[in-house]
Amino acid sequence: MGVFQEKFEKAETAFNFEDVILLPGFSQIEPRNIDLRTSFSKNIPINIPLVSSPMDTVTESEMAIAIARHGGIGVVHRNCSAEEELEMVKAVKRAESFIIRDVITINKEATVGDAAELMRKHKISGLPVIEENRLIGIITGRDVRFADPSIKVEDAMTKDVVVAGPKVTPEEAIELMKRHRIEKLPVVESDKRLIGLITYKDVALRGEYKDASRDSEGRLRVAAAVSPFDLDRAKLLAKYVDALVIDVAHFHNRNVIEATKRLAKEVNVDIVIGNLGTKQGVLDSVSRIENVAGLRVGIGSGSVCITTEVTRAGSPTLFAVSQAADALEELGLKIPVIADGGIRNPGDVALAIAFGASCAMLGYVLAGCKESPSPTTIINGKYFKLHRGMGSQSARQKRMALDRYATFSKEIPEGTEIWVPYRGDVASVISEFASGIRAAMGYAGASNIEDLKRKGRVAKIVSRREKSSVSQSTMI
Ligand code: XMP
Repeated sequence: MGVFQEKFEKAETAFNFEDVILLPGFSQIEPRNIDLRTSFSKNIPINIPLVSSPMDTVTESEMAIAIARHGGIGVVHRNCSAEEELEMVKAVKRAESFIIRDVITINKEATVGDAAELMRKHKISGLPVIEENRLIGIITGRDVRFADPSIKVEDAMTKDVVVAGPKVTPEEAIELMKRHRIEKLPVVESDKRLIGLITYKDVALRGEYKDASRDSEGRLRVAAAVSPFDLDRAKLLAKYVDALVIDVAHFHNRNVIEATKRLAKEVNVDIVIGNLGTKQGVLDSVSRIENVAGLRVGIGSGSVCITTEVTRAGSPTLFAVSQAADALEELGLKIPVIADGGIRNPGDVALAIAFGASCAMLGYVLAGCKESPSPTTIINGKYFKLHRGMGSQSARQKRMALDRYATFSKEIPEGTEIWVPYRGDVASVISEFASGIRAAMGYAGASNIEDLKRKGRVAKIVSRREKSSVSQSTMI
């Protein structure tokens, strides 16, 4: 057999969402009773199989907050300084925590103007006043609004502060705040050392988002993207995030694997690696790096990817999922797989799960939402939002300036920019996806995500090209 013939003989069939269909199976459950709980990574459970992509037109704090409130998790992008990325992560952790640990405070010597500026900058409405780590007062928006900005904080603050002890429960906190008609309750040790802050809004919101993805302290979960070569950033973020996502286009690379191996030893959070596209890639990576907690798979199928057009290299998302599932089976390991790139419909998510994914990462779908950071425009009377590839010319210019570890080795852009239709808020998109995924699982006869992985059967669809060649030959 010739060399080329052998290559063809051994070639795998790479397929994607449009090439297969989920087959109906025997069903014993109503879609509304289907359980969508799954995992983002080994130690991060989520309540719906949806994750927002670390792209600068998709996930900043507003998106991460919205998706976590509805049961998924956001991965904050890294196309910015480490400090900016950290600020976004902290904003998510602050958004609804029962007790805010990372409290923004002010010194009694500062002016009322300083306090107003600090509140504006952090979008908050009150600041505990501190002297040598001890709480001595609280200053709120109401106190600063009509006060002379040049007077000292200590002359405008409320001195008689209602406080809670370290063991306060959400119910006790609500009771205290109602009784004293206050919206902020500092949490202090017996020696008045400030150890946290409870806001009425946060405790009340806990009941509002019942399916939210929360950590053990009740704060919304969030992940952050990092370069494998940026150890300082990883260490900085690791103190606050639930997981770090090693964010490179092609993970199966010796330098990337070695750097990730070093990084993983220095931090104490779940590490998700990617992107991977082949069984060998997963085998090589997982066997060399200790404790990989998640795999992000799919190369070149994203809505704004031109990698495959430019390089003719890639691994379609669904194929990549099946490759990862094969590798994990061979290794006898259970590591959540995240299907990434080209997902447009709930059915795509269901298919990815049927092939072994635990959840799906969305770029295009979420870029069109109100909470995405991208600009909005009107074209022919309709609203659109910008979505750009992280390998696009404009995104790379920014990354070049700020991420000195991203070597500009490839001269050709691998991403593009598109306008995506505005599609309302994240809540409605997630609800549409959750219903669609449940409906697909109903057809497949699966009552939960693991069940769909086990039971989901698929059929191949004859491609249009094959169909037309058949009809042409019939005509001849
Ligand atoms: P969707 O289709 O959901 O895909 O928008 C999101 C995923 O696309 C990947 N991505 C890129 N791939 N060039 C690429 O080849 C790029 O410039 C680019 N930017 C993003 C990424 O995996 C993302 O999650």
